[in-house]
Amino acid sequence: MDKLASLPAGSIAVPTVFDVRTLRRTVGAWQARGGTVGLVPTMGALHEGHLHLVRQAFDRADRVVVSIFVNPMQFAPSEDFSAYPRRLAEDAEKLREEGVDLIYAPSPAVMYPEGFATRITVAGVSEGFCGAVRPGHFEGVATVVAKLLLQSQADIALFGLKDYQQFLVIRTLAEDLNIPCEVLGIPTVRDVDGLALSSRNAYLSHEERAVAPHLFATLNAMVERLATRRHDAAEVEAWGSARLRAAGFGRIDYLRFADDRLGPYAPDREGRLLAAVYLGRARLLDNIAVPPMA
Ligand code: PAF
Repeated sequence: MDKLASLPAGSIAVPTVFDVRTLRRTVGAWQARGGTVGLVPTMGALHEGHLHLVRQAFDRADRVVVSIFVNPMQFAPSEDFSAYPRRLAEDAEKLREEGVDLIYAPSPAVMYPEGFATRITVAGVSEGFCGAVRPGHFEGVATVVAKLLLQSQADIALFGLKDYQQFLVIRTLAEDLNIPCEVLGIPTVRDVDGLALSSRNAYLSHEERAVAPHLFATLNAMVERLATRRHDAAEVEAWGSARLRAAGFGRIDYLRFADDRLGPYAPDREGRLLAAVYLGRARLLDNIAVPPMA
């Protein structure tokens, strides 16, 4: 990241590399000595959810690398790329406290040099839900994550399940492209009132923050209502949307039951209830597991 690269030498709290060669040399040296390496890809503005991923990485690998790159390719021109929170020095300080071995902070020019022409599209799983309302988003995510996995050569990479569809997209691409990195999904970290942690929660006003936990509460109430078997999934979705609107939420991109691969919901199988809803200018994502009902 340009801004991180321009911080005065010594002011970044964790050893930090900015280019692919140094990253590979560092990771390769650890692996040559028999160590395993975990990668936690992030766009910075780190919160407890990211730090949880770091701790989970340390449980499974000897060394942990955190990448910080606000990926322009996954934002549409109308989206919040320039407003996306950037807190580089604070991020590095948090990672130092966790004992992170290395930060990888490429600039856009390192990630997408002049002439960069490749895009990775993951069919099927990218197409509904966020893919339907954010065209090109998952192509941007898939392309940058494939690059991060290949650039770092990490043994494992960890992603939060709050972004459930993103996790499925990434796991599929790693399998399809035979990238020798195990992709792990880690359960969502929540505030005490149930709100899923997210960098975009920073957009919530004080009043909106008080309303935001209704999302998780509504998801749980919807699963309970479905479990009574007195209402089908479509009825429960309509009920949940009305409940969110009454609580003060704005546009609902989706609030829908699906199977755990995001295909059509089937009551006899493990499912997922997924939501993307606006509260003020924050677009909140959340999802929970739905046990088989039949
Ligand atoms: O979830 C995120 O923060 C981003 O989408 C990711 C996986 C780091 C790719 O830019």
